[in-house]
Amino acid sequence: MPPDEAELVADNLVEADLRGIDSHGTNLLALYVSRLESGHLRPTTAVSVVRDDGSTVVLDGGLGFGQVAGRHAIDLAVDRGRAHGVAAVAVRESTHLGALATYTERAAHAGIFAMAFQNGPTIVPPFGGLTPLMSTNPFSYAVPAGDEPPIVYDVATTTVAGNKIILAKKRGDATIPSGWANDDAGRPTTDTAAASVHHLQWFGGHKGYGIALLVELLAGVLAGSCFGHTEHTASLLHGADRIAKGYVFLTLDVDRFVPVAEFRRQVDALIRDVHAGERAVGVEAVLVPGELEYRRRAERLRAGIPLSVPLIDEIDGLARAAGVAPLR
Ligand SMILES: NC(=O)c1ccc[n+]([C@@H]2O[C@H](COP(=O)([O-])OP(=O)(O)OC[C@H]3O[C@@H](n4cnc5c(N)ncnc54)[C@H](O)[C@@H]3O)[C@@H](O)[C@H]2O)c1
Repeated sequence: MPPDEAELVADNLVEADLRGIDSHGTNLLALYVSRLESGHLRPTTAVSVVRDDGSTVVLDGGLGFGQVAGRHAIDLAVDRGRAHGVAAVAVRESTHLGALATYTERAAHAGIFAMAFQNGPTIVPPFGGLTPLMSTNPFSYAVPAGDEPPIVYDVATTTVAGNKIILAKKRGDATIPSGWANDDAGRPTTDTAAASVHHLQWFGGHKGYGIALLVELLAGVLAGSCFGHTEHTASLLHGADRIAKGYVFLTLDVDRFVPVAEFRRQVDALIRDVHAGERAVGVEAVLVPGELEYRRRAERLRAGIPLSVPLIDEIDGLARAAGVAPLR
């Protein structure tokens, strides 16, 4: 890979680990390397413009790294949001973005209210079904604050991201929390071995499923990307000729609605109201989205990122194969 693109992807993975999103950190390195080696992921990311109408832009991610095309797309969405008040940048023929918060938070730091939607391989059945149709279809939003860190919401529309099940299997955990996944027959299970990454549960049942469909409609159908049973979205777990993902970044220039300084003060006030309210029994702190990751990032910058032994072994295997110094 070109060194600057490799650095951007590496930063993205380490940033996810720092924030405690271990499922989207260096845990993904082996998958990315195998997809580079199999030719499913192109080492150089050539982003091209499909259509540019000012406040709306459609890009082609060239089946290179989502992190590289994604950085380009969010920066464009911020610029266009500022120029037009509201903007949408859609990207087709791209791949995994990693944690969506990376992109929305970047926009929030620039004073922009941002939303991100990404679809992906067909691994999760519609609510009540058994035939996979969509991905874990993540959704994120981020909002600039003043003295407080920005509010950053970033979730898969399934109860957890599929990588959390893969990580639990990799760690050898005996059980997973209830509500994460079903077995192959669609029965809820807490047995890690029986849990199927093809039968993740939607958060909030039919409600999360409806949001997942919104992500599919925006990031898949509207972006002109793959969706549903399109052959190119075939599960990356089963192998596919080509695995494309689509995404959409929506941006709002806060200053067009209320003066941005006032908005930041009001968001701070809202965050402080959240903190100041009474807590339920056993709850240490009432938080806004993003706060947990913000705190964890500070802690991990100080104390380091804990990596499991199997993950260290995996990274060291890749390092030795590439002639790079292993971690231990
Ligand atoms: N690119 C992709 O294709 C893809 C697919 C699926 C998931 N993902 C990523 O996986 C990551 C993890 O998703 P997830 O669904 O497992 O996340 P999760 O269930 O851990 O939820 C995380 C969100 O909830 C907030 N949160 C957690 N505890 C809170 C509390 N007590 N009070 C208030 N807010 C709280 C966090 O700040 C964060 O915004 C995300 O970064 C997502 O983008 C990416």
